[in-house]
Amino acid sequence: MKNPRHFLSLLDLEADEIRRLITRAGELKAMQARQEVYEPLKNRSLGMVFEKSSTRTRVSFEVGMTQLGGHAIFLSPGDTQLGRGEPIEDSARVLSRMVDVVMIRTFAHDRVRSFAEHSRVPVINGLSDLLHPCQLLADLQTYFEHRGDIAGKRVAWIGDGNNMCNSYVEAARQLDFCLDIACPPGYEPAAELLDSCGKYCRVMRDPLQAAKGADLVVTDVWASMGQEAEQAQRNAVFSAYQVNDALMAQASSDAIFMHCLPAHREEEVSASVIDGPQSLVWDEAENRLHSQKALLEFLLVG
Ligand code: CP
Ligand code: NVA
Repeated sequence: MKNPRHFLSLLDLEADEIRRLITRAGELKAMQARQEVYEPLKNRSLGMVFEKSSTRTRVSFEVGMTQLGGHAIFLSPGDTQLGRGEPIEDSARVLSRMVDVVMIRTFAHDRVRSFAEHSRVPVINGLSDLLHPCQLLADLQTYFEHRGDIAGKRVAWIGDGNNMCNSYVEAARQLDFCLDIACPPGYEPAAELLDSCGKYCRVMRDPLQAAKGADLVVTDVWASMGQEAEQAQRNAVFSAYQVNDALMAQASSDAIFMHCLPAHREEEVSASVIDGPQSLVWDEAENRLHSQKALLEFLLVG
């Protein structure tokens, strides 16, 4: 493959391609529910490079490849030469001569970019410090499934302007919704993303203001992977940013709640909200499987 198509960011797809993936994810979900065998990726392999922990991403990609007739290989730093310092560029050159597609989860986004630059096969960003685009495919699928098109809707992001928030900023531009972000000073989403997608987003300090009239309320942990040492300090900074019943009361009466998981109950979200009737977090988690199957099919079959 000369110029493989990568998925490092939601901006790597056209808006209509994202919409087609969401529709296709729903079709694949229905086919799986009917136990229809569909194996377009027979004899194809996915290499999964994990430099951070994962439950959902690993299992959804591995099961997704199995269901599509292919195979997935889990590669962790503890067991690979990458973990012993083999350059990312060399790892990309070698792995991409053997597997058909690679998913990488790592720290610096530049590492994902370097891998993709040196890969002969499509590379999927399975989370970097900057972005988590696969999660957004699942979130969007979940919204469409329960409420229809998200265009013109109001989404409130409450808390840290982290990788998930950055991917929401990109999603707002691609799918034309309004994103109100409430975060403490110094915890805003990436400035370069706000520059390119900013007309769809507002950054504010007051979480209740951001939630007002929202159709979808989303949050994430206050300390992401790699920020464990900052946990106590972040708990103090974000204490006013919990998604709880008082905050949900500001949102539209049929608003839904999402969280990429793993969650910390009574920190960023109260148990009453995440385990309550407005929460779609389990559908959201399941949809990682279906939306990534649609993505793998798109990248490998077209
Ligand atoms: N939401 C998500 O990416 O979960 P994992 O870290 O378990 O993969
Ligand atoms: N922001 C979180 C997302 C985990 C799926 C993290 O990066 O740890």
